[in-house]
Amino acid sequence: MKSPIRVAVTGAAGQIGYSLLFRIASGAMFGPDQPVILQLIEAPIEKALKALEGVAMELDDCAFPLLHGIVQTSDPAIGFKDANWCLLIGAKPRGPGMERADLLKDNGRIFTAQGKIIDEVAAADARVAVVGNPANTNCMIAASHAKRLPADRFTAMVRLDQNRAQSQLAKKAGVPLAAVQNIFIYGNHSPTMFPAFAQATIGGKPAPAVIPDLAWLQGSFCETVGKRGAAIIAARGASSAASAANALVDHVRSLVTPGAIHSVAVKSNGAYGFDANVWAGVPVRTTTPGSYEILTGHAMDDFAKSKLAATNKELTDERALVAELLG
Ligand code: NAD
Ligand code: LMR
Repeated sequence: MKSPIRVAVTGAAGQIGYSLLFRIASGAMFGPDQPVILQLIEAPIEKALKALEGVAMELDDCAFPLLHGIVQTSDPAIGFKDANWCLLIGAKPRGPGMERADLLKDNGRIFTAQGKIIDEVAAADARVAVVGNPANTNCMIAASHAKRLPADRFTAMVRLDQNRAQSQLAKKAGVPLAAVQNIFIYGNHSPTMFPAFAQATIGGKPAPAVIPDLAWLQGSFCETVGKRGAAIIAARGASSAASAANALVDHVRSLVTPGAIHSVAVKSNGAYGFDANVWAGVPVRTTTPGSYEILTGHAMDDFAKSKLAATNKELTDERALVAELLG
């Protein structure tokens, strides 16, 4: 048996937390032979901390053999102490009629404080995955406050968008999900994101050859994926939670699996025209557990280039809006 790793989770008593923690403890995120200690962090609000107690009781009651300990705290210095993975979920979700960027003012500050404290107290090999919206920019804010941990340790989640895109393509083509491969998300986790359908394959063939309907691919497909979060809020009255937790399991699982190729928002290296100082969704290949290289060789046509330019502009605009929060 391996020695346990410490996994810090913020917003642990929230909706996503409730769908996520049981999957981490069951081994779905780090594998069936990797014990974990869950370090659960909540806001210093009585109701939230009480709810967290209930979640911890339920975790106990599952008798997960891989769960070697639970820490419950509202003190980030305790919650992030020696953490190998920091999953930053705790933040306000948007309501109907809002864009994710509308959350910047309320949520941005959380990531300033957490970036600093993670840098001070987390393990030397710490990795950070940001889910709280707007995820790309919050991740940039957190990373900007780290002096010890390099920027490539900070990633934001666009995996939910990748999963949504894969599912939409499979439905349209009438094939099983696994037949759809190489669908990657570029840019912001927002309606400007670009699901690059021309690179995707369906049953080994280029997606546009299997779905010869360019108007659908450029129009309804991109729009459905880009606005899926809002559609779920409109239908459910609350933002996606189980699918977001599932995507975070996929995000981390792929990042700890050498050879995995998947979409992650990472600090741009200028590839695909992204500003070098934003966190943009790109395809990456996991090299060693927790490390990755950006795949830069994908050709882009004029339509793709215009989508990339639009999502890059939104990211640089968000960056300008939070200039005073950057370290
Ligand atoms: P929620 O309101 O159910 O839960 C959030 C929890 O975070 C609450 O329990 C709250 O007390 C806690 N919290 C707030 N500030 C905190 C802090 N400083 N430290 C620790 N905990 C804190 O919300 P949710 O549905 O779980 O969503 C959480 C975030 O994830 C939202 O910002 C939402 O928009 C975002 N989200 C992102 C994606 C994505 O794909 N990136 C998908 C779904 C949701
Ligand atoms: C999503 O994509 O479902 C989340 O980012 C929640 C939201 O606000 O859309």
